[in-house]
Amino acid sequence: MRGKRTVVLTGAGASAESGIRTFRDNDGLWENHRVEDVATPQAWRNDPELVWRFYQARRRQLREVEPNPAHAALARLADELDDMTLITQNVDDLHERGGSPQVIHMHGQLVSLRCEGSGRSEIRTAPSDLGDDFLNCSCCAMPQRLRPDIVWFGETPMHMEAIYRAVDACDVFVVVGSSGHVYPAADLVRVARANGAHTVLVNAEAPLNIEAFHEVHLGKAGALLPGLIDSWLGELT
Ligand code: APR
Repeated sequence: MRGKRTVVLTGAGASAESGIRTFRDNDGLWENHRVEDVATPQAWRNDPELVWRFYQARRRQLREVEPNPAHAALARLADELDDMTLITQNVDDLHERGGSPQVIHMHGQLVSLRCEGSGRSEIRTAPSDLGDDFLNCSCCAMPQRLRPDIVWFGETPMHMEAIYRAVDACDVFVVVGSSGHVYPAADLVRVARANGAHTVLVNAEAPLNIEAFHEVHLGKAGALLPGLIDSWLGELT
């Protein structure tokens, strides 16, 4: 893989071994909430307290979890490769804490909150930022309420221009821990393959877009990735 432009896309399966529940496995994150009740702009309009409490609980959970070997392996890969882009659907900060230098969060991030007035995001992770009371921005003369800095269903994923630029140009496209349910993320492997990239999957089970992968490794990312990355880095260019 050395010398090849590599893009890695991760999903909830990459954080599963850190103890963060995925969305669609049987003990899925949404289980005690319907997605529509907590992860849509309508939900935020209809019941902002419920939505706020749901995301504050997930923000507090960040302090209780640690990066797992999958995060460390991907940070090592970024260190060793000249051209690697890491894109994640995950909103946790485990890639950063696992040592990845640059992370593109296409579905937003739990560590930041977004001003409903200016649309600006600000990192807010102090203990006083993690209670169930609403918080106000520090960017407007008349402070405005902050919302979760998350891309909800029906909203446009972030950084898509940079993402498509990287995917269009890559030689190798790796997906780690994603079920291929949610678009446009689930289509990126098809775009990469259509552009001639070698596509690789590391996932606990076959995802919906399995047909788009040249190479499939079924199993836990934390268990598989360190060895896979050793072999990828060991290859001659
Ligand atoms: N290692 C590798 N893969 C795993 C592991 C693991 N330890 N544990 C679970 N998986 C796999 C599951 O088999 C599943 O295919 O990870 C995938 C997780 O799929 P989802 O729960 O659907 O998560 P994801 O694909 O990231 O969801 C995409 O949907 O709900 C929205 O915005 C949310 O970003 C999320 C998006």
